[in-house]
Amino acid sequence: MASQITLLFHLFSFLSFSSTISSYNILNFGAKQGGNVDCVEAIFRAWKMACNSSSSPANIYIPNGIFLISGVRFKGPCVNKKINFMINGTLMAPPGYTGSSELITFDTVEGISINGGVLDGRGSRLWDCKLRDKKCPRGATTSHLAKSQSLEFTNSKDIEIRRLTSIDSELFHIVIHRCDNVNLDGLSIVGPKWSPNTDGIHVQMSTKVNIRNTRIKTGDDCISIGPGTSALWVENIACGPGHGISIGSLGKDEGLKEEGVHNVTVQNILFLGSDNGLRIKTWGSNVEGYVRGIIFKHVVMNNVINPIIIDQNYCPHNENCPGKDSSIQISDVEYRNIQGTSASPIAIKLDCSPTNPCKGLGMSNIKLTYKERPAKSFCKHASGHSAGLMIPPSCL
Ligand SMILES: *[C@@H]1O[C@H](CO)[C@@H](O)[C@H](O)[C@H]1NC(C)=O
Ligand SMILES: *[C@@H]1O[C@H](CO)[C@@H](O)[C@H](O)[C@H]1NC(C)=O
Ligand SMILES: *[C@@H]1O[C@H](CO)[C@@H](O)[C@H](O)[C@H]1NC(C)=O
Repeated sequence: MASQITLLFHLFSFLSFSSTISSYNILNFGAKQGGNVDCVEAIFRAWKMACNSSSSPANIYIPNGIFLISGVRFKGPCVNKKINFMINGTLMAPPGYTGSSELITFDTVEGISINGGVLDGRGSRLWDCKLRDKKCPRGATTSHLAKSQSLEFTNSKDIEIRRLTSIDSELFHIVIHRCDNVNLDGLSIVGPKWSPNTDGIHVQMSTKVNIRNTRIKTGDDCISIGPGTSALWVENIACGPGHGISIGSLGKDEGLKEEGVHNVTVQNILFLGSDNGLRIKTWGSNVEGYVRGIIFKHVVMNNVINPIIIDQNYCPHNENCPGKDSSIQISDVEYRNIQGTSASPIAIKLDCSPTNPCKGLGMSNIKLTYKERPAKSFCKHASGHSAGLMIPPSCL
């Protein structure tokens, strides 16, 4: 009797073991360390097993070492709704810029987590080319969703990305597009100040995205918030070098209707020598849309060129400016407890649309100085209220 029970027990633990855990180490699927052999097929074989395994969760292991990947698309839907990528090593793009258009894309997946690891986009060849002659094989178009971002999630839900490091992406580092319920936590995003169009995290057409505890140094926006973003929470971020945390740019493509941006909270942010701090930018075009229900609070600016800026005549390098009044309506934007230093005399610049003036802007407890003196503020077509300490004095 006792031995039968023991046998049953063993059988049970074997069954429960095999039905609760499945692990796929990419070395067992043919991946080679060292950065010379393309590991895309090996990783993809591990993915196929994990994606269609019914035992949940499935762990895909990427051990220590450098693994070359030329570009991979993980496409769902998957049977398995809990797939964890445990990354100890580095996934590295090929040199040059002739490989695939994205490094890693997840499409139509749910319940994916990425834990740890380094993505090395090796973007410098493309940046050099763009800075030289602007006619480069790819990545040359800089609008909207970049083609050679390091990591993109599209059409996906219930995603976690933790403790991942992204370095030197060719274009955007991380893109969240058409997603629902995404948590990014403890990331480190690193690229040089001069790298063009290397936004840190871009969110677009997505809801319930949380970005926390992240250090971003890059050559474009640290975080950019595109059309169709709602319920976005951004907390404990250090940004700089970079172009700040930006809503927009919006309204670029004339003739298209664009989804608005609403319910965004940005708090506990440190900007370090960035070009902008808190920015909202829309092109001067007839594209209709809105930005509303935005809260920026508890922010420290350290030598930031435009600490607080709304620019409804956005047109970088003055190229292809539509030259109209922006039809994007900006309203209900709160700035609370914002302190520090501006690197230019005008620390608060609210340049809104004459036909759709900004309304319901709110400012309280602001103290921004320029060269140890109060900075200035500038308002055009902007209305709202201010309360508490206001340095510079409010122009609302
Ligand atoms: C999962 O299995 C289905 C049905 O066999 C197949 O169509 C799909 O391509 C598989 N997915 C992956 C990622 O292999
Ligand atoms: C990954 O790193 C962790 C912690 O450093 C270690 O415990 C684990 O064994 C490593 N796993 C692999 C597959 O290298
Ligand atoms: C705004 O977004 C937060 C999450 O960031 C969410 O908890 C809240 O319900 C949203 N509020 C509205 C009115 O949608």
